[in-house]
Amino acid sequence: MNILITGGAGFIGSNFIFYMRERHPDYRLVCLDKLTYAGNLSTLASVLDKPNFRFVRTDICDREAVYGLFEEEQFDMVVNFAAETHVDRSVESPDVFLQTNIIGTSVLMDACRRYKTPRFHQVSTDEVYGDLPLDRPDLLFTEETPIHTSSPYSSSKAAADLLAMAYYRTYGLPVTISRCSNNYGPYQFPEKLIPLMIANTLAEKPLPVYGTGLNVRDWLYVDDHCKAIDLILHNGRIGQVYNIGGHNEMRNIDIVKLIVQRLGKSEELITYVGDRAGHDLRYAIDPTKIHSELGWLPETAFAEGIVKTIDWYVNNRGWWETIVSGEYQEYYARMYGNR
Ligand code: NAD
Ligand code: DAU
Repeated sequence: MNILITGGAGFIGSNFIFYMRERHPDYRLVCLDKLTYAGNLSTLASVLDKPNFRFVRTDICDREAVYGLFEEEQFDMVVNFAAETHVDRSVESPDVFLQTNIIGTSVLMDACRRYKTPRFHQVSTDEVYGDLPLDRPDLLFTEETPIHTSSPYSSSKAAADLLAMAYYRTYGLPVTISRCSNNYGPYQFPEKLIPLMIANTLAEKPLPVYGTGLNVRDWLYVDDHCKAIDLILHNGRIGQVYNIGGHNEMRNIDIVKLIVQRLGKSEELITYVGDRAGHDLRYAIDPTKIHSELGWLPETAFAEGIVKTIDWYVNNRGWWETIVSGEYQEYYARMYGNR
């Protein structure tokens, strides 16, 4: 197997590379990544010089470069993680989200058509379903829930999903799509809730909770997401969407308090700030389809995963302290300065 993994220098893509190398040591993995602010080559340091691994720095929107790579490599599968992923940044500047998430996905699928790649897997998100009310815990997102997006980010991901289904129907491209809930774990960029709160708590800086802090997300340990994608790649049905989530709904404020407690700091660090524009209230996945068709179940309970994650950030300060200098400081001042 020769698999192209785009966005593999980011959070989930890098964890997927580590997962696949352990699970399928005979597979060749090619990582294509533009190395935006969110991509970090040091994350891949342990695999860069391995014989069955190749890293290529390219933009998925660069058709010529992408075709050139497909010309050189005969890929059996493409797994597309590459994306702009932070909702707050999409509210500030939608443009790059439309470019990468929509145009970039179509370039990759055109390459798959041209070079007859047997599988294109689109890594999507539960955010394409919009949000659920806080007072209806009985409601969950299924694969049949209509697409109904809130942010430029989720709209661009939904557009990519629609394009993928259109390529399947119109051109017969062998496509699968997965829509996962919020991931957490090692190597997540510190702009996202959990690593941001860990980094700020360690530095005893204010912990900026948006709005009431009562918004709910459905958290999944990143390895469980990787395992689900591996199962879909090998046993999933072409043309199908699979939701991924582990019935682990939590309020933002409870996550923040848990992090503060674990790190032995004061809850006085918690600071309520202005809400995110268009802030989705609640996400919750119904994973019945992937469970019944592919036997997937999450393996890491939140109580275990969050401790592993906090400990990882405590023990790997070098990784994120480099990241939170430079561009991140400007972003942080812009995003949180006047909130
Ligand atoms: P991330 O922001 O950590 O990483 C994105 C990676 O894509 C980075 O390495 C970046 O350099 C690369 N990239 C960005 N633009 C590119 C371009 N034009 N060409 C090539 N590479 C480019 O993202 P993540 O959290 O790891 O998310 C990966 C995928 O999973 C995304 O498609 C996202 O929508 C989806 N997803 C994320 C979550 C989550 O909780 N993080 C949940 C569900 C789905
Ligand atoms: O559901 C899957 C999605 O999860 C992915 O598709 C996205 O790529 C990923 O970024 C994530 O989106 P969210 O917007 O849910 O994640 P984020 O970590 O940005 O925020 C989680 C919640 O925490 C959300 O309700 C906003 C809130 N929040 C976030 C930050 C960064 C705060 O209260 N304070 C903050 O500083």
